[in-house]
Amino acid sequence: MKRRGRVVALGAVTAVLRDGRSLSGAFDAAAAGLEDPREGALARELAFGVFRWLPRLDAILPRLMTRPLKRKDTDVRAILLLGLYQLLFTRIPARAAVAESVALSREIGKPWSDALVNAVLRRFQREGARILESVTTSEPASYAHPGWLIESIRRAWPDAWQRILEAGNSQAPMTLRVNARVSTRDAYLERLKAAGIAAEPAPYTSHGLVLQRPSEVDALPGFTQGAVSVQDAAAQLAAPLLELELGHRVLDACAAPGGKAAHLLESGPAEVTLVALDKDTRRAPLLQNTLDRLGFSCDVIIGDATSPQSWWDGVLFDRILLDAPCTASGVIRRHPDIKYHRRQSDVDALARVQRSLLEALWPLLAQGGLLLYATCSILPQENQQQVLEFVESRSDATPYPIESEWGRAAGPGRQILPGDHGMDGFYYALLAKR
Ligand SMILES: C[S@@+](CC[C@H](N)C(=O)[O-])C[C@H]1O[C@@H](n2cnc3c(N)ncnc32)[C@H](O)[C@@H]1O
Repeated sequence: MKRRGRVVALGAVTAVLRDGRSLSGAFDAAAAGLEDPREGALARELAFGVFRWLPRLDAILPRLMTRPLKRKDTDVRAILLLGLYQLLFTRIPARAAVAESVALSREIGKPWSDALVNAVLRRFQREGARILESVTTSEPASYAHPGWLIESIRRAWPDAWQRILEAGNSQAPMTLRVNARVSTRDAYLERLKAAGIAAEPAPYTSHGLVLQRPSEVDALPGFTQGAVSVQDAAAQLAAPLLELELGHRVLDACAAPGGKAAHLLESGPAEVTLVALDKDTRRAPLLQNTLDRLGFSCDVIIGDATSPQSWWDGVLFDRILLDAPCTASGVIRRHPDIKYHRRQSDVDALARVQRSLLEALWPLLAQGGLLLYATCSILPQENQQQVLEFVESRSDATPYPIESEWGRAAGPGRQILPGDHGMDGFYYALLAKR
């Protein structure tokens, strides 16, 4: 019964837990070559589900075992987590969930593990209700987020923290951005309808469509030809904020995989010169693929935005987009492994990186130009605090008001909280150069 899908989920979960891989990367690698879309959907549901609920599953597991598993048996732990996830959060019949987990344990060459998997999952069937009641008295197990993050979110958003945590445990919708150079949103909506795919306009966007159910990209009409891209509605708010004009020279300083760069090219006047920079040699090809699929060309540079002397030609930019590396605390629903990978100390470290990016890029902006600072974080240290401190340190930087109805005012910019109108959590602040 969908054994391949479970094997893929096991491969992905093990790679994240054991090797520290990102879930999306590990999942794509494990799922390569999987042909049956139903197997793929099951694999995704199980692997992403385990990380969505990991803080709770991790609290339950030790109560079902007499001895902890060794690190070298991370694959067995992954089988148990997958089994618990199925028993707790899916409609898969319990008997099938246990039997399939035992069958999965026979795939890993550890003959002792099938008895253990069977015993642990059966014990959960007998004692689960009591164990669940006792573990969910702790906040991390109850809200399924790490304790430090719950605390940071509660402090930052006292009126919304529980809603934010709930959004972090939900499944994000699939949202599309219709290529404005190819068609209108209404025309593409008709194409979707004809293909049997239900969707509705994404609020606050001119070209966003939210699908009723996620779809394989290959099933989207014209995807390969660049008619449409996958991008959350919150991310689609970046390009219009930059108010591109004819002849502008624009820098996208952290551009891979190219979602916002492509949107700039789609929505701005044709005569805009875009330099798309990213320092990650593995991510830069994704940026090129995005541009190729959409039929755009621009100057793609692999380089470090904090050392412009290594890549900049000395000509100032009228617009700079700094979509900064961040904790990604606003997109946990899309990348639930953030709950596992992120540490509290990362916030300080990332805030330092963001500050150095701001410092390095500001001199590249022409007088009268605009810099858009963006993160997919909801933590003030990376957002309003960061931008405020920067503005206070520079006499030539002034906040440029964002006149919009989305999000809420946060320091010099605006914050969208995860789940607001179905969107990802994002922060935007515009700075003008005097
Ligand atoms: C939030 S992602 C950008 C997403 C992209 N703007 C989009 O819309 O598809 C941040 C990117 O910053 C890049 N990055 C991090 N530090 C950098 C640096 N010092 N110079 C250039 N790029 C950097 C990362 O490789 C990553 O691709």
